[in-house]
Amino acid sequence: MTVVVRQMQAVDVNAVYAIEKEVQFHPWSLTQFQDAQQNYHSMVIDVDGEVRGFCILQPVLDEANLLLMAISPKYQGQGLGYQLLEQSINTLKNAPIQIFLEVRERNLAAIALYEKMAFHQIDMRKNYYPNQDGTREHAVIMVKACSDDFQSLFR
Ligand SMILES: CC(C)(COP(=O)(O)OP(=O)(O)OC[C@H]1O[C@@H](n2cnc3c(N)ncnc32)[C@H](O)[C@@H]1OP(=O)(O)O)[C@@H](O)C(=O)NCCC(=O)NCCS
Repeated sequence: MTVVVRQMQAVDVNAVYAIEKEVQFHPWSLTQFQDAQQNYHSMVIDVDGEVRGFCILQPVLDEANLLLMAISPKYQGQGLGYQLLEQSINTLKNAPIQIFLEVRERNLAAIALYEKMAFHQIDMRKNYYPNQDGTREHAVIMVKACSDDFQSLFR
C-alpha cells in the first residue's frame, strides 16, 4: 500500500467534492473546491492512486486558517486524517507562527484529532452553525502555536 500526501491537482477536485458531499450536509460547492485548489494550500491523501481525503489551509501573512478537511467515511479511523493534517501543516510555505480553525462543538472526532495535533480551544461562537433540524450549534475556535518563540505570537 502506497500512501502519499500531495498537492491537490485540478483532476482531483471531483473526487474531493464527492468526499465532501458524503460527510457534510452543507457541502462546499464544486466551484469553491476549484478556487481552493488554485488559491490555497490544498492537499490530498492518496492511497494507491485513490484520493481518500483532503485538507485545505489558507495561509494569511504569518498565520494560517484550516478551512476544511475530511477523510472518506469508509477509510476513517485508520490514521489517515492525522497523517494528512500533519503533512499539510508541515508543507505550508509561509511557516506560520499559529494556525486557527473553527469546528462544530459536537464534532468530537475532529476536535480529538485537532487536540492530538496540539490545537487548543481559545474561544466559542455561540449558535454559529445551522443544523439540519433547524437548531443551531456553537463553533469552537482553536489555535495551534507553531513557534517556540512565545514573543512572536504577540508582535
Ligand atoms: C475528523 C476526521 C477528518 C478524522 O479523520 P480520521 O482519518 O478518521 O482520523 P484518524 O484515524 O487519523 O484519527 C486521528 C485522531 O483523531 C481522533 N479521532 C478520530 N476519529 C475519532 C472518533 N470517531 N472519535 C473520537 N476521536 C476520534 C483520535 O484522537 C485519533 O487518534 P487515536 O487514533 O490515537 O485515538 C474524519 O472523521 C472526517 O472526515 N470527518 C468528517 C468531516 C469532518 O468532520 N471534518 C472536520 C471538520 S471540517
